Amino acid sequence: MPENLSLPLEASSAAPPVAPWAADRSAVLGEGPKGALLMFVGEQPGDEEDRKGRPFVGPAGRLLDRALAEAGVDRTACYVTNAVKHFKYVMRGKRRLHQSPDAGDIKLYRPFLLREVEEVAPHLLVALGGTATQALMGQKLPLLKLRGQVFEGPGDRPVLLTVHPSFLLRLPNPELKETEYARFVQELAFAGQAAK
Ligand code: URA
Repeated sequence: MPENLSLPLEASSAAPPVAPWAADRSAVLGEGPKGALLMFVGEQPGDEEDRKGRPFVGPAGRLLDRALAEAGVDRTACYVTNAVKHFKYVMRGKRRLHQSPDAGDIKLYRPFLLREVEEVAPHLLVALGGTATQALMGQKLPLLKLRGQVFEGPGDRPVLLTVHPSFLLRLPNPELKETEYARFVQELAFAGQAAK
């Protein structure tokens, strides 16, 4: 890969937008090489990501890492980012409780995400969950029905829709959790092959 393609994206990108609720926090930007063949898009940074300033390094990220390893996909060769670049939460006592971004939040950050897609220019995008799907496809879609399928997304780039790792973490039934996790690993393995 030519040297300039491995620069971190932050080096060349403008600052992301800031939602009204995010004035007191820092953005968590995407991470990975420009020119990565595979780009993963999540929802928004969580508590741990916000504290560490890196995407997918909390519980959902650890599950994603495990699934990627089982799927034979090297995370360091991929670009990993989020649809919304700030952690949205409400305080419950001393705890910061995750709040899902709404349609307005997704719309606000979308132009920045689309610019990121253009800069990375991946062969395949993977939408992890409903927010990423809405941000990449420009509309709300029935993810659980369409999961595992590839659609034409921004700049005619293919987008594989799959679930968010937090969805797997939240499944209460251990058997279902195992089946759904195995399906997720299969989808990641497919993505790894399809992006080559
Ligand atoms: N969930 C996300 O969608 N992104 C992260 O970076 C972490 C958790």
